[in-house]
Amino acid sequence: MDCRNSHDDCLVIVSNRLPLVLKKDEAGEIKTEMGAGGLVTALAPVLKNRGGIWIGWPGYVQEEDIQAEPILTRESDRLGYALRPVQLTRQELDDYYEGFSNSVLWPLFHDFLGYCRFHQQYWDAYQRVNNRFAEVIAANIGQNDLVWVHDYHLLLVAAKLREKGARNRMAFFLHTPFPALDIFIRLPWRFKVLSSLLEFDLLGFHTVGDRRNFIGCLRKLVREVEIGQQAETEEGLCELRMNGRVIKLGVFPISIDYREFSDLAAAKDISERVKDIHENFPDKKNIFSVGRLDYTKGIPEGLRAFRKFLTLFPEMHRKVRFIQVVVPSREDIPAYAALKEEIERLVGEINGVFSQEDWMPVQYVYRHLDRRELVSFYRACEVALVTPLKDGMNLIAKEYCASNIKEDGVLILSEFAGAVNQLHEGALLVNPHDTESVASSMHQALFMDLAEKRRRMQGLRRCVQEQDIFWWVNYSLQAAIEKDLSSFPRIQEYYPAE
Ligand code: G6P
Repeated sequence: MDCRNSHDDCLVIVSNRLPLVLKKDEAGEIKTEMGAGGLVTALAPVLKNRGGIWIGWPGYVQEEDIQAEPILTRESDRLGYALRPVQLTRQELDDYYEGFSNSVLWPLFHDFLGYCRFHQQYWDAYQRVNNRFAEVIAANIGQNDLVWVHDYHLLLVAAKLREKGARNRMAFFLHTPFPALDIFIRLPWRFKVLSSLLEFDLLGFHTVGDRRNFIGCLRKLVREVEIGQQAETEEGLCELRMNGRVIKLGVFPISIDYREFSDLAAAKDISERVKDIHENFPDKKNIFSVGRLDYTKGIPEGLRAFRKFLTLFPEMHRKVRFIQVVVPSREDIPAYAALKEEIERLVGEINGVFSQEDWMPVQYVYRHLDRRELVSFYRACEVALVTPLKDGMNLIAKEYCASNIKEDGVLILSEFAGAVNQLHEGALLVNPHDTESVASSMHQALFMDLAEKRRRMQGLRRCVQEQDIFWWVNYSLQAAIEKDLSSFPRIQEYYPAE
């Protein structure tokens, strides 16, 4: 498939995984699986219109010896943009993905220093794999193409591409938080990472705080960079200068396809499922919590808060159910396996202590939910508990609001999710470490009067609708391409105050 359509400047998206990955099933048949995220939905039309390429790991390792080319060509034709795979061996995947990406950068960027495994072998593989990505990009781009790289797996890609002589415009978006100087400085390869990031022309962050942390690291660790006064106060786009180059830093809070969730929530089969959920649990309320298995998501903290709620409010026994969905993720990393055990022990303890013949306080689900199941839970549950200890954005919070078409749900949201900057007015905000206050917020949410619920939820839905994933793509691309950004949105920063 030729990506170029009628344009001579196509868009090249680069991410760790391709939006469509290949897997062998138990019978040895090759299956394709399309990523369901909003990013794929939002970028697909842009890639189709402008002509585009998506470069990433295709989901299997070289040793599996899968003949992917014909499948990827067929799928590229179907999707309307080209898919280009970056092949990795089992060892490379272990050291680059599970190792450096998810046992160094992920915990470091989420302030979980204790989980960091700073192994040289991981760093070596990370550099090699980032270079492999750059090779595949270099082999596929034209000189006017815009290269847009995503997330912490690929921090070195611009530097590796520049080494190969590429002079393209290159943008980067970080889907995680960026840590403060005191945390970032622990990384043994901190200078290389920072200087490599400065080879991009545009760096995008979710929040003003993440960008401020990044600038704070530059101020102390990179002498050559010139940082204007406005860089720390400006909420829109700001600029740095280094060696005669201008680097733009933007704040782009990622979002979801609001319409898709809202329309799906109104579908007939979803309404039926919502009825079933209530019928199986009549006159009772549901608190819903869903998250990828990850120590950043505050899953044990949420369960402990529910246990506290049951202790503080015994009159609520038999009247409330906590639905905890955990989506399997990165299970081969020891910290994740240990977390799974902790969650299951807590669920067992709570149900063991509080269950009655016809009431199980925690309903625990450990599997991937399809979109329809997820939206049914969003619609059916009176309260959503979203309590990450630290999160770049958190799209669950936005999905719950978009799906809450009756506008009578309550969102309890952690102060440490990036989403708080946009959703602080409508949500009940909590510090997930403050177990008692999360428990009281559950009570407050369950007893909130309808008028207040409506007012809060309508504001939340308006915000998610106005700043949806298409808005996000639009502003990110505009920032990468255009010079005049006077209309650039200003995203206010939220801090708790007494
Ligand atoms: C986070 C990261 C994404 C990643 C996702 C799922 O949201 O920012 O880049 O794709 O987690 O994690 P996984 O390791 O399964 O890709």
